[in-house]
Amino acid sequence: MAYAALRSIGAYVPQKILTNDDLAKMVDTSDEWISKRTGIKERHIAAQDETTSDLGVQAALKAIERSSIAKEDIDMIICATISPDYFCMPSTATVISKKLGLGNVTAFDISAACTGFVYTLSIAKAFIESGMKKNILIVGAEKLSAITDYNDRGTCILFGDGAGAAIISATDNKQEAIIDVNTGADGTYADLLMTPNGGTGSPHDALDGEANACFMQMKGNETFKVAVRTLTNDVKEILESNSIESSAVKHFVPHQANYRIIKAVGDALGMTSEQVVVTVAKYGNTSGASIPMAINDIYENGSLKAGELLLLDAFGGGLTWGSALVPFSPIDS
Ligand code: COA
Repeated sequence: MAYAALRSIGAYVPQKILTNDDLAKMVDTSDEWISKRTGIKERHIAAQDETTSDLGVQAALKAIERSSIAKEDIDMIICATISPDYFCMPSTATVISKKLGLGNVTAFDISAACTGFVYTLSIAKAFIESGMKKNILIVGAEKLSAITDYNDRGTCILFGDGAGAAIISATDNKQEAIIDVNTGADGTYADLLMTPNGGTGSPHDALDGEANACFMQMKGNETFKVAVRTLTNDVKEILESNSIESSAVKHFVPHQANYRIIKAVGDALGMTSEQVVVTVAKYGNTSGASIPMAINDIYENGSLKAGELLLLDAFGGGLTWGSALVPFSPIDS
């Protein structure tokens, strides 16, 4: 039987930085309020002519280079995004495949908001274990600044742009395989976090010009509570069903939405501060890109080593959630 292994990681953030002080000039807020309530200090913002696929390509190039797998051997690309280059088609994954010069690959996007990367991981795992694909590029890429309302202080302080990517490939060595991915969704919470305008749920001709803007809207306080509960339960479930103690986890990588959420979940699970990966201060919430960007951070600062166990834990609009137990298994390990 084929197993699926995480071979490499890469990430990219655009150059421009938007600080809390910058935001305080745009809406009624302050560095003190944002820092205290979210832990966020700054976020990166893509240039006007920089698209989600451009960010994804930069992250993918790093992941491919670090994977020891030839670009030509990639047989599938999945992109998790809620800010695609184009509203309906082509998918951002196909644009990325063209920009990378990949030729004939299976390519598609998935929409699972901040849980997107964990969903792509579960799909990649299933395709590889079934024997249908061998080397899959998964990308989480977001230009959230394009769907953020910079007049709404409840949301604009939270989000940023960026991308992360990984190569998942087939192995017959069970020791290096992804152990488990657990995903779920509950549509009854859809109104907590959504972009209500622009789709067939709100036909364009029924809207005035301003309402047509495809901006994110969020019930922040309610989302916060559901996030803490869901993220905590999700981890308990995946550890328990795989008979793994939390102490065996080297790096706990939760979705980076708000430091208070990360702290509450880490404490509820009894994780030490050394285990919990936190990058929210410098990137804000980059939705589907947040988890691979955080993994890339610990890879680039040298704290992620071959064979170490990652525990991923995501939560997002839909509502969606997902967790994964993933050993880091670069090819020369
Ligand atoms: N600056 C200053 N004041 C702000 C503000 C801002 N940017 N945003 C909201 N406020 C005000 C509110 O108007 C409210 O004022 P009031 O008491 O006079 O009515 C007060 O701060 C408290 O608002 P509340 O929404 O209860 O704050 P909070 O502590 O819940 O923090 C969030 C708001 C958005 C930071 C927080 O709810 C959050 O992070 N939620 C989850 C977000 C998330 O994870 N989303 C993505 C999921 S993938």
